[in-house]
Amino acid sequence: MKRIGMLTSGGDCQALNATMRGVVKGLYGAFDEVEIYGFLEGYKGLMYGNYKKLHADDFSGILTKGGTILGSSRQPFKLMREPDANGLDKVKAMKDTYKKLKLDCLVVLGGNGSQKTANLLSEEGLNVIGLPKTIDNDLWGTDMTFGFQSAVDIATDAIDCIHTTAASHGRVFIVEIMGHKVGWITLHAGIAGGADIILIPEIPYDIKNVCKALDKRAEQGKRFSIIAVAEGAISKEVAELPKKERKKLLANPKYPSVAYEIADQIKQYGGQEVRVTVPGHTQRGGSPCPYDRVLSSRFGAKAAELIKKEKFGELVVLKNNEVTSIPLSESAGKLKYVSPKDSIVKNVRMLGISFGDE
Ligand code: F6P
Repeated sequence: MKRIGMLTSGGDCQALNATMRGVVKGLYGAFDEVEIYGFLEGYKGLMYGNYKKLHADDFSGILTKGGTILGSSRQPFKLMREPDANGLDKVKAMKDTYKKLKLDCLVVLGGNGSQKTANLLSEEGLNVIGLPKTIDNDLWGTDMTFGFQSAVDIATDAIDCIHTTAASHGRVFIVEIMGHKVGWITLHAGIAGGADIILIPEIPYDIKNVCKALDKRAEQGKRFSIIAVAEGAISKEVAELPKKERKKLLANPKYPSVAYEIADQIKQYGGQEVRVTVPGHTQRGGSPCPYDRVLSSRFGAKAAELIKKEKFGELVVLKNNEVTSIPLSESAGKLKYVSPKDSIVKNVRMLGISFGDE
C-alpha cells in the first residue's frame, strides 16, 4: 500500500487539476494499492491537518477543469521557519501531519516559493516530489511550467480583441499582462498578439523611447499602436534608484498600476488618445489549453514514475522537450528571468518591436 499526499500551493493556474489527474493515473498504474490524501488550501492543509482522502472518482472529468479541487493559498515561504500567530512551529506541524498519515511521499504542485518550501521539507527528511506550476514560467530549471501556455493564450486573446477596436478608433492601447518579476507572458503574448511595444521588468524602459516608437508608427501612417506591458515593468529611472528607495517608491504607487502611469505619461507627451486594458486574473482562469493538458499529464506521469523508483527530493521539469527531473535543491530560491541576451529578445528587436530601452 502506497500512501501519497498532494497539495496545490500559491497562485492557481489552469492545469493544476490536469496535473493531479496525471499523477494519480500514473500511480494507479504503478501500484496495486494507493491511498491519496489531498491537503486543502496548500501548505495550510498540511500544517493544520486539513485534508481529505481522495478516490479515483475525484479525478474523473477534471482534465479540462481550471482552478484546483484542493484549493490553494499563498504561504510566504520566507516565514515558514517563523511560528504562526498562535505560536505553532509550522515545519514541525507539517512533518507531524505527514508522519501521522504515514505518507510515503508528498507531491507539491507549486511555483517558486512553494518549491522552496518543498525543498525545505525534503531537507527535513520527508519524501517530496515537486511539479512546476505557474503562469509566469519563472521557475528555475524547467523550460516550461504548466499554466504558462494557457495564460499566454488568454493574454493573446485580449490583445487580439483590442487590436480591432484600437484600429477603428486610431488609439494607443496599453494591455497590462501578469508578471510582477518576470516578463515571459508579456513577451510571448506580445509577439503572438502583434504588439508594437513590449515592456518587461527585465528590460527597464525610458518613456521617451516609448513615445518615440509611437511617433515612428504614426509617421508610417499607422493609426493605432498596441503596448503590451508586464505589471512589473519599470522605468530606467526607477531601476537605477538604490534598492531601498526603489522599494519605497513601488510600495506607494501614484497610479493603480504601471499601465495607467504610462498612459498618463503618453497623454502628457501629447497627441495620441490612450486607453488601458487589464485582463488581470482572467489569465489564470478557465480551462487549460491543449498544450498544458499534454504537458501536465506528462509531468504527472513522471511524478508517478519517480515515486515508483523512490527517487525523492526531485522537481519534475521539461528540458529540451523531454520530461525529466532535477534535485529540488537545484531550483530552490532561483527565478528564471528573461535575459536581454536571450535569442527571443533579439528576434523581437529584429521584428521592429520596441522594448522601450533604446
Ligand atoms: O504568480 C502568478 C501571478 O498571477 C502573477 O503573475 C501575479 O503577479 C500574481 O500571481 C497575482 O497574485 P494574486 O493572485 O495574489 O493577486
